[in-house]
Amino acid sequence: MSAVSRYRLRPGGRLTGSLTVPGDKSISHRALMLGAIAEGPTEISGFLAGEDCLSTLRALIDLGVRIERSGATDVRVEGVGAGGLEAPARALDMGNAGTAMRLFTGLLAPQRFNSTLIGDQSLMRRPMQRVVVPLAMMGAQIRTHDGRPPVEIRGTPHLRGIHYSLPVASAQVKSAVLLAGLAATGRTSVTEPAPSRDHTERMLGSFGAKLAHEGRTVALEGGQRLRGTRVAVPADFSSAAFFIVAACLAASPSLTLTNIGINPTRTGLLELLRRMGADIRVQPRVGSDAPAEPVADLEIHASPLRGITVHEAEVPLAIDEFPVFFVAAACASGETLVRGALELRVKESDRLAAMAEGLGALGIEHQLLPDGLWIRGAGGFGGGTIDSRGDHRIAMAFAIAALRASQPIEILDVANVATSFPGFVETARAAGLELEAL
Ligand code: S3P
Repeated sequence: MSAVSRYRLRPGGRLTGSLTVPGDKSISHRALMLGAIAEGPTEISGFLAGEDCLSTLRALIDLGVRIERSGATDVRVEGVGAGGLEAPARALDMGNAGTAMRLFTGLLAPQRFNSTLIGDQSLMRRPMQRVVVPLAMMGAQIRTHDGRPPVEIRGTPHLRGIHYSLPVASAQVKSAVLLAGLAATGRTSVTEPAPSRDHTERMLGSFGAKLAHEGRTVALEGGQRLRGTRVAVPADFSSAAFFIVAACLAASPSLTLTNIGINPTRTGLLELLRRMGADIRVQPRVGSDAPAEPVADLEIHASPLRGITVHEAEVPLAIDEFPVFFVAAACASGETLVRGALELRVKESDRLAAMAEGLGALGIEHQLLPDGLWIRGAGGFGGGTIDSRGDHRIAMAFAIAALRASQPIEILDVANVATSFPGFVETARAAGLELEAL
């Protein structure tokens, strides 16, 4: 983990030119996991070598999978096939990675061995009952401590397929059920209340599985075998989001972000920013290596923003982008209101509370609501000190705020930026932010 603990940012900065960001976190986790249970090798390019995905990689090695890294972002997984994972000698440490813990719960519930999942302080406080409930309906035996980790899994090889209606849109829960369903008898189907990211479904298709889609329901038959394949991971839209907002706010003509994943279940932020008046042009890349996941170059031109109301159904499509969206809202004219975003309270931190506190510290009038945030746009910020609460996206969002600050901003507890965005400091500096890592 990075030794950096604080960022200090000088106000202002111009963003110009072109940049890209590291590989997609959600897709990198899934490429490793599906590669591991497939037959034959899987070659991953563009892999995110951030702490979260490295936790998944190390856990799979502990489960007996051979994984080689031939370059910074190239990984080869020797698939062991369904039923080929081996009992781990110790608890599997998921670090800060909620996605890893929830997806592994689905993957490990139907194994012939027991396993225990643990994580860092933040992850040990996060709710796991949401995956335990549907998996228990399938016959899984899983113990938690009041719904939180450690997750103790008693492997149960004969799970039964179920139909499950998700109470909240969650790609992690959907994916955990589908992964367990792959090893269960009969059909497993999941219905979502609103669309959530669909990387698992797309990638299962690339590995040769057959899925049926009908409206908001996805279904698969248990017992299907996966075949190893090549996965080209696009750059992470959620990491690009910091620079998309930065380019909207900075006093610069334009910024281009290249090779960004634009899966429509991820790009809700583009729609929200456009409604605020942003000028963002999407140039799809055709003939890319990743047919399962659309990729584009994004050209962003600075433009004045105005406040908007975000509707509940729009929340899952921009779920990880709200920290930086709130920064955009604070720089807009007029008011912004987000409701129906209770999920933000159970991310790596309580993101509603963390953003409200940080916006307050920088002089922004706001109101913290039980399930959202109201913000009166002020065009820019004062300066001050932000507690990121160890949350990577809170830290990076407030780094972007410096572009419109009148005084320096100091951000505390930033080591976890390395979970999703290794090289953030270098990328931000190359783009034009005046950021010092201490
Ligand atoms: C993720 C799903 C989302 C998101 C998380 C990654 C995934 O969580 O916030 O960062 O890779 O499936 P939920 O499914 O809990 O909303």
